Amino acid sequence: MEAKNIYVPETAEVVRVQKMTDTETFFEVRLPGGRDLGHAPGQFVQVSLLGIGEAPISICSSPLKKGSFEMVVRRVGNVTEAMHKLAPGAKLGIRGPFGKGFRVEDYENRDTVFVAAGLGLPPLRSLINTLIDTKNRKRFGRIIILYGCKSPAEFLFNEERKGWESRKDIEYHVTVDRAAPGWTGNVGVITTLIPELTLDLAKTAAVIVGPPVVYKFAILALRSKGLRDEQVWVSLERKMKCGVGKCGHCQMNNIYVCQDGPVFNYAAIKDLKEAVR
Ligand SMILES: Cc1cc2nc3c(=O)[nH]c(=O)nc-3n(C[C@H](O)[C@H](O)[C@H](O)COP(=O)(O)OP(=O)(O)OC[C@H]3O[C@@H](n4cnc5c(N)ncnc54)[C@H](O)[C@@H]3O)c2cc1C
Ligand code: FES
Repeated sequence: MEAKNIYVPETAEVVRVQKMTDTETFFEVRLPGGRDLGHAPGQFVQVSLLGIGEAPISICSSPLKKGSFEMVVRRVGNVTEAMHKLAPGAKLGIRGPFGKGFRVEDYENRDTVFVAAGLGLPPLRSLINTLIDTKNRKRFGRIIILYGCKSPAEFLFNEERKGWESRKDIEYHVTVDRAAPGWTGNVGVITTLIPELTLDLAKTAAVIVGPPVVYKFAILALRSKGLRDEQVWVSLERKMKCGVGKCGHCQMNNIYVCQDGPVFNYAAIKDLKEAVR
C-alpha cells in the first residue's frame, strides 16, 4: 500500500453542524467512504479550508464511534470563522490524527477525576465517552467529572451532559465562575470543586484540560488532596503549523507539543518553565 503523505490533506465532508454557544459550533465530519480516522482520545487533526488556511482542532468523539468523527470549534480567526459558515455537505481538508493522546490503559482499574474547564471539555469528552461506554465501563473505577465555565451560556453538550448527570456510575459536578439569572448550581471557579472530593489516593488519576490559568491551580488543589504529580495528566495547547514535528512552532525546550503531546503526564513536563504557567 502507498505510504500516506502526512502533508497532504484528505477531503472530508461535513455531515452535521450544530451551534452550541455564541462562539462554539459542533461539527460531525466523514472521511471518504466513512473510513475510520483511527484516533486515540486526546489526538487532534489539522483542518484546512482552501484559500484560507489550516488549524489544529481536537477530536471530541470517542474512537468507538465509527463512520465519522466530531469536533467543537471556537470562532477566533480566519479558519475557525470560515468553518462556522459551513453547512452539511461542505468539504474540508483533514490531516492526521496527530500527536500523542491519552492511553486508555493509564485509567484502567483506577478512579479518574476529569477537570474540564471551558473548551477543555471537547478533548476530554473523547476519553470520557471511551471510559463510560457500556462495553468498557467495568474496566474503570469511579468516573468523576468536574466541568466549569465562566457562565452558563458557555456550556457545551447540554443534552449529553444531562445523560452523564443521570447515570449512577458517573459523579458529575458543574460550576460557573459567575451566576446568571436562572442558575441555581455551584458558583465558583472549577478548582473550588476539588477540595470537596473524597478520593482513594492510591488508585486515583486526574486529567486536566482547560485554559492556561486552570492547570496551575488545579494541580495545586490536587496536590493538597494528596495526589502525586505522576497521577496527573494534562493536554497542552501551543501555536502549531505543521502538526508533525518539523516546523518548531510548538517547541518547548526539547519537546514538540504536536508530536510528544499534546497529552503529557504532568511529572514528565513539570520542570519545563513554559509548560504550565
Ligand atoms: C492541539 C490543539 C488542539 C486544539 N483544539 C481545538 C479545538 O478542539 N477547538 C478549537 O476551537 N480550537 C482548538 N485549538 C485552537 C485552534 O487551533 C486555534 O484557535 C486556531 O488555530 C485558530 O485558527 P484561526 O485561523 O481561526 O485563527 P487565526 O486567524 O490564526 O488567529 C486568531 C487568533 O488566535 C490565536 N491563535 C492561533 N492559533 C492558536 C493556538 N493554537 N492557540 C492559541 N491561540 C491561537 C492567534 O494568535 C490570533 O490571536 C487547538 C489548538 C491546538 C494546538
Ligand atoms: S507544529 Fe510544527 S513542530 Fe509542532
